[in-house]
Amino acid sequence: MNKIGVIFDLDGVIVDTAKYHFLAWKDLADHLGFEFTEAHNELLKGVSRVRSLEILLDIGKVELSEEKKQEFLISKNEHYLKYITKMGAEEILPGVNELLDALDALGIQYVLGSASKNAPLILKQVNLYERFVGIVDGNSVSKAKPDPEVFLIGAEKLHLKPEQCVVFEDAIAGIEAANAANMISIGIGDEKTLHKANFNFKNLTEIPDNFIKELMDKTKAI
Ligand code: BG6
Ligand code: MG
Repeated sequence: MNKIGVIFDLDGVIVDTAKYHFLAWKDLADHLGFEFTEAHNELLKGVSRVRSLEILLDIGKVELSEEKKQEFLISKNEHYLKYITKMGAEEILPGVNELLDALDALGIQYVLGSASKNAPLILKQVNLYERFVGIVDGNSVSKAKPDPEVFLIGAEKLHLKPEQCVVFEDAIAGIEAANAANMISIGIGDEKTLHKANFNFKNLTEIPDNFIKELMDKTKAI
């Protein structure tokens, strides 16, 4: 059996924070006077905060000064944090605790690899912070997903080579980042959207009991 480590994306894999991002971005769009739908919100998944604002402004065909952009980035995050600070362990997505328990039982370490600058706070809110041996978040990278940087730093924290790392991701940019890092990519969500992943599951409860063990056997073959 080969030694492996796991890197988890946060938003959409461990917790469903997209709904809170949606409410906060929608509030900004309302303020700027254009419609922002849940379909629009899909475009922001896995994307950095700054890039998210650019996409939102493109949708509304709004041009703003750098100063205004900075102001809205701050106010959007303050709004988002109002939801985040109310989160608790009940918001952990189904299958997460079971998967972490299974990894612990196999002696497999895991780190977080997220675009969010709020990642440490969110993990603390849901009482999972202590379980991760390392956190790589939006504050630790210079290049956002689909650049592999976030996951390559994750591999360093695991003291493993990229090809020994397994990435759980719900966003296309994240799957592309994992593939570019030469890691095993596991798409969580819609299989068609995440067709570039090495493996696909609708959610973490669908992962078969022996899946991780089999991965350990197969890592070299992939
Ligand atoms: C990602 C989310 O995890 O984090 C994106 O999928 C979000 O939607 C990004 O824009 C940045 O998050 P934050 O918390 O730093 O604004
Ligand atoms: Mg995500």
